[in-house]
This record gives sequence, C-alpha cells and structure tokens, in this order.
Amino acid sequence: MKILVVGSGGREHALVWKLAQSPRVKLLYAAPGNAGIAEQAECVPVGATDVPALALFAEKERIDLTVVGPEVPLTLGLVDELHRRGLRAFGASRAAAQIEGSKAFAKALMVKYGIPTAAFREFSEPDAALAYVRERRVPIVVKADGLAAGKGALVCRTLADAVAAVRLIMEQRAFGEAGDRVVVEECLEGEEASFLAFTDGKTVLPLASAQDHKPIYDNDEGPNTGGMGAYSPAPVVSAALHRQIMDRVMVPTVRAMAAEGRPYRGVLYAGVMIKDGEAKVLEFNARFGDPEAQPLLLRMDNDLVPVLEAVLDGRLHEVTLQWKEDAAVCVAMASGGYPGTYQKGKVIHGLEEAAKVDGVVIFHAGTARRGAHLVTDGGRVLGVTGRGRDVREAIARTYEAVRRITWEGAHFRSDIGAKALRYPR
Ligand code: AMP
Ligand code: GLY
Repeated sequence: MKILVVGSGGREHALVWKLAQSPRVKLLYAAPGNAGIAEQAECVPVGATDVPALALFAEKERIDLTVVGPEVPLTLGLVDELHRRGLRAFGASRAAAQIEGSKAFAKALMVKYGIPTAAFREFSEPDAALAYVRERRVPIVVKADGLAAGKGALVCRTLADAVAAVRLIMEQRAFGEAGDRVVVEECLEGEEASFLAFTDGKTVLPLASAQDHKPIYDNDEGPNTGGMGAYSPAPVVSAALHRQIMDRVMVPTVRAMAAEGRPYRGVLYAGVMIKDGEAKVLEFNARFGDPEAQPLLLRMDNDLVPVLEAVLDGRLHEVTLQWKEDAAVCVAMASGGYPGTYQKGKVIHGLEEAAKVDGVVIFHAGTARRGAHLVTDGGRVLGVTGRGRDVREAIARTYEAVRRITWEGAHFRSDIGAKALRYPR
C-alpha cells in the first residue's frame, strides 16, 4: 500500500522509520518531511498545514492511508477532509482534536466528567486575568488557550512572572490567536509522565509508558519547549498507576468525547502529574508525543500498519501490542537559542560516526540538505535515540552517539533519563 506521513519532525521520522519496516508498505511519502525522512520516503513539498493541497495530493496519488503527525493539521480538519474524499486517514477529527486545540475545552470536559486535573479559571479579558493572579498564591501556571508548539504553558514562581505571563500571552500576543483566552491553573507538584493510547472510540489500548523532559535546561530549569528528550518505560508509572490512569483518565475521556458527539479515533495522549500515588491531567494531546514517539516506536514490536487499520475499522479489541523488554532513550539536540530565536543553516558533523553506536537510531527533526552538507533547519534538530538492556545502558549509548555529533551552537540536556535511575530495578 501507499502511505503518506504528514509532518516534518522527529516524531514523523520515527513513524516513517517504523512504517518502512512493514511488509504491507510499498511506497512511503512524507509532506513535507526533512533530510532524514528523505532517505526512507519520498518527500513532497507540501506544508503540513496546507489541508487543501494535502488532500489533493492524497487523492491524486491514491494514497491508501495518511498518517497525520502534528496537532495543527488535526485541528484544521485534515482527517475530516480526507474522509470526505473517501480516503483513509489516521488521526483525530477536527472536533476530537479540540481536546488539544483548546485548553479551556479540555478543562471543561474534565470538570464535567470528573477527570482529575488541577483547579483553574479561564479568562478572555487581560484585566480579569491579572486581578485573579494578584489574589492567588504563587507558584501558578498561566496557559494560552490555543496551540503554541509546547511553549504556551508558563509556570510562574513569582507574582511578577505571572503578571508578565498574562501580558505576554494576552497583550503582546506572543502566541497569536492562541492567546485570545488564558487558563490560569493551580501549580501541581510531582513527577510527570506521558500516557499514550490508541483508541477506536470504544477500545482504549495503552502504549508503553514514557516520560518527556519539557524545560530547556538540566534539572527541569528554564522555559518549556516541545520536549528535550524522552524515555520508555517510565518507572513512575507503576502497575497500580497504570490501572488508575486507564480507569480514571483514559477510558472516561474516550467515553466523554463520544458522549459529547466528538468520537475520538487515533492516539490520545494524556500528560499527567503524579504525586503520592495519584495522577492528575496536565494536558491532553490529540497525537503521538514528540519526542515520546521516538523511544516508543523503537520499542514497539508490532507492525504498525495493522494497528492503525484496526483503529480505523473499529477493531482495536483484536490487537495486542508487543514491546521489547529493554529501555529506549531519546535526546533532542537543538539549535542554540531554542525555544527562543535561533539561527538555521549550521553544518552538522559526525552523524555517520554517531550512527555506528550499538542500538542507536538518529531521527531527524529540523534538518535540510545544502549541497553535500546536512544543515540545521529548525529548533529541535535531531532526536538521537538508543536502546539498551535497561535505561542506564540506553542512556550511555544514546549520549555516546550525541557526543559524536556537533554543530555551532548545538544544545542538548545532559540529564535525559536520570529520573528513571532513582527507581529500584
Ligand atoms: P501543557 O502545555 O499544558 O502541556 O504544559 C506544558 C508543561 O508545563 C507540562 O508538561 C508541565 O511541565 C508544565 N505544567 C503545565 N500545567 C502545569 C500545572 N498545573 N502544574 C505544574 N506544571 C504544569
Ligand atoms: N512531547 C510533548 C508533546 O509532544 O507535546
């Protein structure tokens, strides 16, 4: 069959890498892809948010299955448009993707259906938001309602930070229309985990556990990013917590979306905060996590194609997921300056040497070809991902590969996976 992967990040490279291993796949396309994806798929110069052009391409090329990676085309209704044209597509519908597209929507859903989450208020006027933060205690979290590429949640330690956050989002419009409304939320403490599941709207089939590292610097300091690294499995998700998250979050959310007339089919991702054996939802995403997809897909033993088809056909109860027993770690290497402004076009060295490290796969995110050179072309540039017998070995192998890769200004966290080492093996 012919498959089109929409997107150009590390997650999409991991999807292409995984799909390329399926005996069912004859031809793979990516729109727009990146320099790494181009080695395994034909890259089509159509942007990931250009819904009409993507639909036209899929129709013209008779694509059998379109797999949508990022949130923006989901919230723009790409999957709905493909279905309207009688084409198969994997990903949340526009109505379902609101669970990620509007934090106010997600919060209201959680309140209505009793899904555990932080206490909050939403505001569409900056003065009201400012008055509210002034009467609350810090720390407090100020979030742009709409999509902001993982950068729209500001954890504020002082009142001055909280006031600045409201102004940044609502007055300076740092995230554009996403800042028409803000959600101001109680700050939760604890350890985060990313809980992902496939769902066909009825069956909820969890993936292996994973953990992201959102802040830019070691020890979770500095501003939030799209994610600076991830690993799987995440020992913070004990068997008891896994059951709790399924029973109190994932299954009720899928039922709630159906009850709201927004049936959810695709991957549902809950970012949760865990403290004293209780998990609360920080956010929902309507897609695979990036970088969580990289370690997860490295560990998944199933052919991905039949899993995606079972989601589309409402046969997910027939599927069992199989995971390699070992651990996988992904370290995001980013352009200096990210998540703020950064330069592009820096020549990347050492990839071949890095790829020789046992168990390591290098997923590209923001890369491009310039003549004979591979150059940086985005904020997150590479997702260096390695497997090992346990997380300790996976960390060692992954960082061995990371150390072999250089470009001017490259930045990465040096503590990805460290939280897992605190748990007894
Ligand atoms: P979000 O965009 O809602 O996923 O938030 C991004 C990141 O901000 C999360 O992964 C957390 O690290 C942090 N965060 C969001 N909400 C809260 C909260 N209520 N308490 C503490 N940290 C939060
Ligand atoms: N890694 C977090 C996200 O994909 O939103």
